Amino acid sequence: VRLRTLIVGLGSAGTGLHLPVVERLRATATSSPLFAEAPIVLHDPRGMPGGLAGHGVALAGSLTEAARLAPPGETVVHLCTPPSARLQPLSELAALGFRRFLVEKPLALDDATARRIDRLRRDLGLEMVVVAQWLDSSLTRRLEELIRGGALGRLRELTFVQLKPRFLRTLRSPGQATAFEVELPHSVSVALRLAGDARLLRAGVSDMEVGDVVVRHMGAAHVVLGHDGGVVTRATSDLTAPMRERRVELRFTGGRAVGHYAVSREDCHAQLEVRLPGRPARRRVFPDDSLARFTAGAYRRFREGDDLDADLALNLRVAALLGEATRRGTVRHGAPGAQEAADEPVGAVGHAG
Ligand SMILES: NC(=O)c1ccc[n+]([C@@H]2O[C@H](COP(=O)([O-])OP(=O)(O)OC[C@H]3O[C@@H](n4cnc5c(N)ncnc54)[C@H](O)[C@@H]3O)[C@@H](O)[C@H]2O)c1
Repeated sequence: VRLRTLIVGLGSAGTGLHLPVVERLRATATSSPLFAEAPIVLHDPRGMPGGLAGHGVALAGSLTEAARLAPPGETVVHLCTPPSARLQPLSELAALGFRRFLVEKPLALDDATARRIDRLRRDLGLEMVVVAQWLDSSLTRRLEELIRGGALGRLRELTFVQLKPRFLRTLRSPGQATAFEVELPHSVSVALRLAGDARLLRAGVSDMEVGDVVVRHMGAAHVVLGHDGGVVTRATSDLTAPMRERRVELRFTGGRAVGHYAVSREDCHAQLEVRLPGRPARRRVFPDDSLARFTAGAYRRFREGDDLDADLALNLRVAALLGEATRRGTVRHGAPGAQEAADEPVGAVGHAG
């Protein structure tokens, strides 16, 4: 079967990431057989955003209309709503007969909601994939091989630094978000994939300040995770940084590796530098369009009826860990940045060692 596409939630993820990726995959010889030729169906209670004319899409005014335009049995639903609006549209879509869901990250903002979504999935037999494109990134695959291969010894420490100026979107919709849910789901999912399950050791978050405007908990967020096998992960995401960077460093008993995930959709290339003691560092650059690969992979797995449980379990853990980080990172909040002093300076995390 060729699968159809329904995108629910037409914000920046729905129209800026999912729609162009599906369009690109439909136009690519290797992936086009996965996709039906019928128009991509879109739904958002706010209607169609501007700039989509000529995209060959069909707008559904309601979810019921969406089910008429895209037969639920042949359709993958891309749920691109904010994390606070997942359970309700999922229930409605499931009641209309939709079964295959590609859900944006994070699955939920707390463990309890993530579990309710998981219960709904199991009760109704839904097939669900959470968008975690770094898991399908070529860089992550190379890191997995590096760990498995053992040339650098045993993995001891993972450090992620995710820098991005995200002022405009934050100021436009200050909402309920915290910096824990924006970029950290990417790195935490990779950490769990590379080093196994973990518990939260520390968490902290600062505010975003622009002139006199303060957006609570939308500055820099960091978590420290202790993995079951002894590896420690430190991940920092600074949404007030002046530049973009998505860096990962792996410290092994016998060397280091530094990777850079692609920082923008316009140029999907990643890099990896491996440093063995006493040898010149070797840097490799390679194409890494992880969202396209992830999306095509999800359609393939839906079509072939693959077992999706292991990846979903990992994403449930990501939601639980970041939910706990949000609770712990935000409760002790007195003056802006106060918990940073009580915890660990964010700036020090990215440059440890
Ligand atoms: N994977 C990635 O790289 C990536 C990148 C950006 C955003 N995201 C994720 O995508 C999700 C959406 O983020 P965004 O930046 O697009 O948000 P956004 O606020 O720009 O857009 C959300 C849209 O969902 C719509 N919506 C709200 N409730 C709805 C409902 N019940 N039914 C249908 N539509 C509804 C809103 O009207 C809005 O248009 C978030 O979970 C975010 O973390 C992921």
